[in-house]
Amino acid sequence: MEHRKVAMVGPGGVGKSAITIQFIKNHFISLYDPTIEDSFQKRIKVDDILVNVDITDTAGEEDYRFIRDQYMMGNDGFVLVIDSTCLRSLVELHEFVERLKHIKGDVFPCVLVCNKIDLTSERTITIEEVRSYSVEQLNSCPVVETSARTRTNVDQIFYQIVKQMRYY
Ligand code: GTP
Ligand code: MG
Repeated sequence: MEHRKVAMVGPGGVGKSAITIQFIKNHFISLYDPTIEDSFQKRIKVDDILVNVDITDTAGEEDYRFIRDQYMMGNDGFVLVIDSTCLRSLVELHEFVERLKHIKGDVFPCVLVCNKIDLTSERTITIEEVRSYSVEQLNSCPVVETSARTRTNVDQIFYQIVKQMRYY
C-alpha cells in the first residue's frame, strides 16, 4: 500500500481545518476554532492506485507556530492555503514558504490552494496573482481554487498533491 504524508500549511483562519474536515468527514465547520495540531487519515485512489494519505492539520496562528519546524521536517508534501478574500494571507503565506525552503530546499512537492471562493463579492486575490506566485516561488506547482463550504475542488487538492509527490 502506498503511503503519503501531507501537511496543511498557511496563516490562521484561511480554512485549512475546514478543508481537511470537508475532505475527511464531508461536512463544513462554520465555527472558527484555531488549531494547535490534528491528524487524519484517508484512503483514496489516484490514477487507479490506492494510497493512504496522512494529513497533519497545522496551526496558522502565531501563538502555536512553535511546532512548525517539526511538521515541516516530518512531512513530504505540503498543501499551502490562502484565503481569496484576504490579500494579507498571501503575504503571510510567504513566511511559511521561506521557512519551508530553508528546511526542505528550494523544490518540494506542494499545491497552492486559494480558498473561500464561495465569497465571490469579497474576493480580493485574483487567480492571476495566485498563479504568478506559484510560478515565481513554488516551481509552478498546481493551483487549486476551493470552497470548503460548498466542497468545490476539495478532493482535487489531495489528488494533485499525491500526483506531485509521486512525480518528485
Ligand atoms: P488555524 O487553525 O487558526 O490556522 O485556521 P484554519 O486555517 O484552520 O481556518 P479554519 O478552517 O478554522 O477556518 C476559519 C474560518 O473560516 C471558519 O469560520 C470557517 O468556517 C471559515 N471558512 C473556511 N473555509 C471557508 C470557505 O471555503 N468559505 C467560507 N465562506 N468560509 C470558510
Ligand atoms: Mg485550523
